[in-house]
Amino acid sequence: MAIIQFQNVQRVFSQNGKDFVALKDIELEVKDREFVAIVGPSGCGKTTCMRMAAGLEHPTGGQVRVDGQVVTQPGPDRAVVFQAFALFPWKTVWDNIEFGLHSLGVDAAERKRRIEQIIALMGLGGYEQAYPHQLSGGMQQRVAIARAYVLDPKVLLMDEPFGALDAQTRVVMQEELVRLARKNPRTVLFITHAVEEAVYLADRIVVMSRRPGTVREIIDVKTIREAEDWDQHKRIEDVMDLPSFVHLRTHVWKLLREQQLGDEH
Ligand SMILES: Nc1ncnc2c1ncn2[C@@H]1O[C@H](COP(=O)(O)OP(=O)(O)O)[C@@H](O)[C@H]1O
Ligand SMILES: [Mg+2]
Repeated sequence: MAIIQFQNVQRVFSQNGKDFVALKDIELEVKDREFVAIVGPSGCGKTTCMRMAAGLEHPTGGQVRVDGQVVTQPGPDRAVVFQAFALFPWKTVWDNIEFGLHSLGVDAAERKRRIEQIIALMGLGGYEQAYPHQLSGGMQQRVAIARAYVLDPKVLLMDEPFGALDAQTRVVMQEELVRLARKNPRTVLFITHAVEEAVYLADRIVVMSRRPGTVREIIDVKTIREAEDWDQHKRIEDVMDLPSFVHLRTHVWKLLREQQLGDEH
């Protein structure tokens, strides 16, 4: 069953009094508990797609549906994780994670149970009473992801959530997210410009064309990942060495390079 649907989505923006087509004919379905990554050249409209799914931006043609309903505004069925961590600086780790649960009206015992579970899963034990400024960037982003996951939303929308992290922290976070996503599958739309990250994390990869952004190709990773049993490897570098991984990565790279080179090609 499709949880997120982009149906013939178009987005026109105005720049300096002139209209331009940022996105055209976007057709995409994300199934229940599927992890879909979108990659594409800078400016191709990835963030706009995510903002439309979040209800923060609206298509000028077609529609975006979540669970069958046309998206018109933000809602508790969709949690968003941005590149900038966007934690409340005056709240502790625990209170940051608890915040959304309050708004959902989850009772105190259930809040405690869920927060303890996600804190353990995300390796945040011992930091419950710390404030964001006392944490590294990687730890802050763990809190941001924990805060989204704990709501158990129908849909998780992540826009380059690891983009601001240093390379080592990024690898650890990718491994954590894979563990979390396989143990606790959710419907995820994940935007990245990092090809390896997409191949490592996603069940399917959507490669977008350069502006006006449209779907260039959709690549099934999950079938290969399961056939080759990537998840038996705990470390990302071991997965990245597998011939099946290298093959997929090269394929996505080629598609992206075609888009980046465009007319010069
Ligand atoms: N609110 C806006 N007004 C005008 N142009 C916009 C607006 N938002 C995005 N754009 C333009 O739309 C295109 C796609 O932007 P974006 O979705 O941020 O791309 P990406 O995330 O793939 O880099 C870019 O050319 C950007 O400048
Ligand atoms: Mg973007």
